Amino acid sequence: TLVRISDDSLALACGADELADAFAAAGCTVERVSSWGMHWLEPLVEIGGQGFGPAVPADVSAILAGTSDKAIGAIAEHPFIAGQQRLTFARAGKTRPLSLADYAATGGWQGLDRARAMSGEDVVAEVIVSGLRGRGGAGFPAGIKWRTVMEAKGPRKYVVCNADEGDSGTFADRMVMEGDPFLLIEGMAIAAHAVGAQRGYIYVRSEYPHAVAKLEAAIALAADRIAPFVLEVRMGAGAYVCGEETSLLESLEGKRGEVRAKPPLPALEGLFGCLTVVNNVLTLAAIPHIMVPGGASLYESLGIDRSKGTMPVQLAGNIRRGGLYETAFGITLGDLVERIGGGTASGRPVKAVQVGGPLGAYLPPSQFGLPFDYEAFAKVDALIGHGGVVVFDDTADMARMARFAFEFCAAESCGKCTPCRIGSTRGVELVTRISAGGKAMADAVEALPQMHNAPKFGRSREDDITLLEDLCETMKFGSLCALGGFTPYPVLSALKHWPEDF
Ligand code: NAI
Ligand code: SF4
Repeated sequence: TLVRISDDSLALACGADELADAFAAAGCTVERVSSWGMHWLEPLVEIGGQGFGPAVPADVSAILAGTSDKAIGAIAEHPFIAGQQRLTFARAGKTRPLSLADYAATGGWQGLDRARAMSGEDVVAEVIVSGLRGRGGAGFPAGIKWRTVMEAKGPRKYVVCNADEGDSGTFADRMVMEGDPFLLIEGMAIAAHAVGAQRGYIYVRSEYPHAVAKLEAAIALAADRIAPFVLEVRMGAGAYVCGEETSLLESLEGKRGEVRAKPPLPALEGLFGCLTVVNNVLTLAAIPHIMVPGGASLYESLGIDRSKGTMPVQLAGNIRRGGLYETAFGITLGDLVERIGGGTASGRPVKAVQVGGPLGAYLPPSQFGLPFDYEAFAKVDALIGHGGVVVFDDTADMARMARFAFEFCAAESCGKCTPCRIGSTRGVELVTRISAGGKAMADAVEALPQMHNAPKFGRSREDDITLLEDLCETMKFGSLCALGGFTPYPVLSALKHWPEDF
């Protein structure tokens, strides 16, 4: 019997290796494939298209006998999968990540072959037509960025992939790198051809050792296929701010990961001062699908308004059915959380959803009608970011979450600019003081070593809230990068929607 089990690190963490060993011991042939992205069912077993999960070694004999209560029916017809529009994740669950044969048999390299038969200008023009926007969070049109690098003259050009996926509740980059590494490699080779780059780097966060191993193996296997383009992996050292493109470049150059002022844009003065395309994993992984015949117009036809194509949404936190849900832009937040995600895992009412990582706004259920769309989110002071959706139930204390945003910023600040470096610490103090309210305020103040220099008494709660809003405004408009600049979003949204928690 042929049994397919994922070797994605989430499946491994849930016991996929032990399960695979148990099936092998029972005489089955076990094939390790990528993950379908139905995380609540991992480790998921596939036999002849039928799924069983979450499975443990004790389930093996019942699964093989056809009597298991872990059966979920045909995986491809499962509502979670059938409802998706998968482009980037078209191979998820279906292929062996490091099999060149599987990759080629499922349309791999077609985009690269076609791109290489075209001029760089024509490739860039197709990417512009597709409407693809940067999936790292800012949503800048990918084709315009490529055009900037393509048109500029310089001795060397680089393509850098930002795989420092640091947002809470996000894992789509990791799933691409572990599950379909050739897709990213192909996307980067196409980018290199389009802009005229000779060399590329994938900057992966150190917390992703499986992704690094898969990428290195895949690059070795594909080296001839992508030559003369040369690709290497570099590992970060655990700083969230190295996901910001300029500090990522500093880190790649072997320096401390500190943000550079923009301009100059990395496109014009990037890695080692050269012309550089910096794109997120998901942006580059969308490219091979765009470059197949008709791909750009198909991509452009999906989505709404200026948000074109599909977004791999990552459902996480306190959610019943967490996982990877790729869909065209325009789906509502409520659909994602309630209909697809099934509400909270705890069974309690949803209180808040944080979209776009630790710097994203907290949205209440009253905003569940919001369509997944860059501009619609921006209009309500929220962001889509990298597509992470983290759900909280009614036990969440939103004042604590607001304080956490400041704490996170204080811990991860690169220290270059004052609003972020100092403001984040002042923010922790302020939220602590506001939530301590009238009760034992002095105790709360004394408990915090960093507050010893701060004024302790004589301010009303209203004064403190005004001060907090003022601080947020200073950080939003005065910070050099998104880390300090976006910290106000979770803070102010928590204060706005759940004032009773403060
Ligand atoms: P940005 O708006 O400054 O720039 C967006 C991109 O467009 C950059 O790569 C920039 O170099 C490029 N660009 C701008 N004008 C250009 C031009 N004329 N020609 C060529 N390229 C041009 O935004 P930034 O600071 O790079 O990113 C902020 C975003 O990062 C936020 O929206 C946030 O959602 C996201 N973020 C993502 C995280 C993750 O883990 N993926 C973590 C934290 C934040
Ligand atoms: Fe560094 Fe924070 Fe300023 Fe960004 S906002 S440059 S992380 S100090």
